[in-house]
Amino acid sequence: MIVYSEITAIKKKIKSLKKDLSIGLVPTMGALHQGHLSLIKQAVLENDVVVVSVFVNPTQFDKKEDLDNYPNTLENDLSLLESVNCDIVFTPNPKEIYGNNIISENFDFDGLEFQMEGKFRKGHFNGVGTIVKRLFEIITPTNAYFGEKDFQQLQIIKKLVEKFNLQVNIIPCEIFRESDGLAMSSRNVRLTEKHRLAAPFIYKTLLNAKELFGTKNVEEVIKWVENEFKNHPLLELEYFEIADEKTLNPIKKVISGQKYRAFIAVFAGEIRLIDNISL
Ligand code: PAF
Repeated sequence: MIVYSEITAIKKKIKSLKKDLSIGLVPTMGALHQGHLSLIKQAVLENDVVVVSVFVNPTQFDKKEDLDNYPNTLENDLSLLESVNCDIVFTPNPKEIYGNNIISENFDFDGLEFQMEGKFRKGHFNGVGTIVKRLFEIITPTNAYFGEKDFQQLQIIKKLVEKFNLQVNIIPCEIFRESDGLAMSSRNVRLTEKHRLAAPFIYKTLLNAKELFGTKNVEEVIKWVENEFKNHPLLELEYFEIADEKTLNPIKKVISGQKYRAFIAVFAGEIRLIDNISL
């Protein structure tokens, strides 16, 4: 496994690879967990060369304290990456990516960026779009892997590829969960013990909502979920939405043949957790 932190060096390496080799890219912000490793293992199976980027992208954080508190576990990340046969790691610093001007591009994602996370995290998706586009330019991957836990991000990246006509296949990967159902996230390690014990309630509620979706109308399902959280002593609901999987527009009525998902964001103490389920 080779680690690069400079763009010119990694570009040179990529250029030296045989033209017919497939390159799989897994972009991460480090603090790797089993969820990331499952993406990387899939990339290893499906590509000749696997590149993992580890970069805590400053422009996608709307709160400075979130950026400051983001876990940095590079040494451990590198040994995990070695253990799953990653070939190349890219660990640039912000200056390498942004120079002296740490700002994001402005994108039009056809409204996807204004739904759910976009309402609560201003500028977040411009930051994500900026770094992902930059990584695609540097690494020129054949396939790039993204987890469905950040489903809105995944749809936005597909839109980015479509709008800029980028030559990369976006591969969605299913949510990886702890044995109690909590979706894996780098934030989980920051949960207090009592909030960690409470957090599986989020997925349980999504499963129940999925069942209710078959028998009750959309408004009733939403009300039911909101009530579940009103009565919860430790978890605070930020949003629960049922939306069209492609447009992410919230729905009022079910139209047959369309695909829907339920999306949720919850505060467990200071820590904000998101999850979603296909309905
Ligand atoms: O999902 C993430 O970890 C980040 O948003 C990503 C895609 C690595 C971009 O910084």
